[in-house]
Amino acid sequence: MSKITAAITAVGAYVPDFVLSNKVLETMVDTNDEWITSRTGIKERRILKDKDKGTSYLAIKAAENLLQKSGTNPAEIDLVLLATVTPDLPVAATAVYVATQIGAVNAFAYDLQAACSSFLYGMSTAAAYIESGRYKKVLVIGADKMSSIIDYTDRATCIIFGDGAGAALFEPNHEGLGLQDEILRSDGIGREFLKIPAGGSLLPPSHETVDNKQHYVFQDGKTVFKYAVSNMADISEQIMQRNNLTNDDVNWLVSHQANKRIIDATSSRMKLDESKVLINIEKYGNTTSATLPLLLNDFEHQFKKGDTLIFASFGGGFTWGSIYLKWAYDKK
Ligand code: UT7
Repeated sequence: MSKITAAITAVGAYVPDFVLSNKVLETMVDTNDEWITSRTGIKERRILKDKDKGTSYLAIKAAENLLQKSGTNPAEIDLVLLATVTPDLPVAATAVYVATQIGAVNAFAYDLQAACSSFLYGMSTAAAYIESGRYKKVLVIGADKMSSIIDYTDRATCIIFGDGAGAALFEPNHEGLGLQDEILRSDGIGREFLKIPAGGSLLPPSHETVDNKQHYVFQDGKTVFKYAVSNMADISEQIMQRNNLTNDDVNWLVSHQANKRIIDATSSRMKLDESKVLINIEKYGNTTSATLPLLLNDFEHQFKKGDTLIFASFGGGFTWGSIYLKWAYDKK
């Protein structure tokens, strides 16, 4: 019997309608379009404005988009993994609610949190379940309502993040397509530089933590930038070397969209032509767990069966990694 590999067989996505442009941000904090564009590559981001909707709304929409596009019966899904740093509630996994709402009535479900690497780690988890032969359909959703944890008076963070969701279905493949190799890493040194200081067991919520704005994202951008550039470039080069891939062999770089300059540094280390580097940061900003599946959905029409995709991510924690995957289908 041929070896089982785990392939992506369908993708879907959703972003809210409301557009927050750099021009509008200029009226909210001391910043300007030129600074944001040249330092990050971001022009606008989407915001989920409805006060009564959380991350589950984004995730459900993305999953429904995938189900509808691919004609998948949700009752056949075995597992729903939701990669997110902004669950609806601290307790009661959002994935469980999402699975029920989309009709995945035979699935089990749980959330997975590794900051901006959540979706990449979720891909690895999904692939392991499929390769073992234990499950046949694993839905990985990356969704974040970043606007719920951003201080819109802090110019260091509010210009960066946006809301969105994307989803990918993993199924067994017998042609050797799908996930080929991965290198996943983490380093606890990162927790001081990118975090939400309060609301967890270390510093539970109190009037004081609210007054001190400790429930919002804090980022020491300069330090995170340095680690992101060196680690993401290193790991992407490593996965190419380990698999004897040259720049000609790689068709697409699917990189976390945190900063255009970080993506450029990674692709230049890989010696990739810019036509192979997928970018949509200008439209959505950094959507944390949603950046990779949003790229897959936006560029799905360009992928050909057998294409070599290199995924790369870096996020809080720190967490980072790279995945080498062979694309499994031509879009009809
Ligand atoms: O997704 C998870 C991982 N996260 C990342 O990978 C993000 C990594 N970090 C970054 O992308 C960048 O560090 C930022 C985009 C956050 C900041 O860019 P930077 O080039 O590192 O800027 P900086 O923090 O060094 O600030 C440069 C200057 C400072 O002024 P002085 O001290 O040189 O006078 C800042 O006060 O720019 C100023 N500044 C701004 N100016 C206009 C900081 N934020 C802004 C702003 N608008 N929004």
